[in-house]
Amino acid sequence: MDDATNVTDPMNLARTLETLRTATITGVAEAADLEALASIEASSIGRESPIAAARRNLGKMAADERRDAGRLINEVAKGISTIIGDRRDELQAEASAAAIKAEAIDVTVDYAEMATGRLHLIQQVTDEVCDIFVGLGYHIAEGPEAELAWYNFDALNTPLAHPARLGMDTMYVDYGEEEDGMVLRSHTSPIQARYMELHDPPVYLVAPGKAYRNDTIDASHLPVFHQIEGLAVDVSITFSDLKGTLAEFARQFFGSGTRARMRPHFFPFTEPSAELDVSCFNCDGSGSSCRVCKGVGWLEMIGCGMVDPNVFAAVGYDPETVSGFAFGMGVERLAMVRHGIDSIRHFVDNDVRFLNQFPG
Ligand code: PHE
Repeated sequence: MDDATNVTDPMNLARTLETLRTATITGVAEAADLEALASIEASSIGRESPIAAARRNLGKMAADERRDAGRLINEVAKGISTIIGDRRDELQAEASAAAIKAEAIDVTVDYAEMATGRLHLIQQVTDEVCDIFVGLGYHIAEGPEAELAWYNFDALNTPLAHPARLGMDTMYVDYGEEEDGMVLRSHTSPIQARYMELHDPPVYLVAPGKAYRNDTIDASHLPVFHQIEGLAVDVSITFSDLKGTLAEFARQFFGSGTRARMRPHFFPFTEPSAELDVSCFNCDGSGSSCRVCKGVGWLEMIGCGMVDPNVFAAVGYDPETVSGFAFGMGVERLAMVRHGIDSIRHFVDNDVRFLNQFPG
């Protein structure tokens, strides 16, 4: 082709351009991608192409043939350019269709769902109880699990000789000064004393947390369990305030079908003391050969009473001007009664078949 385009003979030029045109049409049709097309474009109408050479040769042609030759060159160049342009549009459309297909995300495709965690039933119940009391105007308080014997016992009017202080019931911690007697708190009641030491009355608090006792594991005992403490101190709190408050709690937590009763009891830090019982979920209070309530028909739920004046004195309150009540409940027990769980062991077995039944 190069030879041919060097000639200035119009016939030769026409033939050369026609050959170029047909060759380019074939090449363009076969071009598989934009890169191949670009190289065809360069070699057919680019700066080094036969078309460019033919244009350069125009000046050597006879003047009367130059115009027709120029028109022909332009016509062929334009035709080739159009063919290439159309093919480029086609290839670009193909390329973007392929890209869209490759990058497409099918939002309807099923995927392996990642298991998400959920709160343990004990935490759920703790939150729910606290919410009920917050609704009654109480604040949340907390305290340390490794506790000084002073707060766990002495400030709570519990004498040295009290059976709960024996190593048999309480886990002692080998830490700090020996005469301080560090324990793993055997109840959440020390939070009462710590809070009153730091805050003036009135006090309305609930304090959730772990408690530790040297108990053998059975269907209703764990050495580590959870309690929620309650304390109300104000100028004229009476036993009927205690009863009304716990009755309201029982109604909100257990529902109207559960019966509750109060029974005299003893705690060193309350006087008088009482135990709030709820009817047994397993036998509905009948007690007949029931392994959950052991035939009693009632389950002890909440220890409570009027704060002993000695406790007020220990924390610097004046027992002559303030009065109050306190209560303590076991979270595991609350959960068992409400959900009909027959063994406290389920809470620590970490069996997902158990845990999944309480999605929260
Ligand atoms: N601390 C007591 C217990 O663990 C419960 C309790 C708390 C009783 C507050 C009375 C007042 O059994």
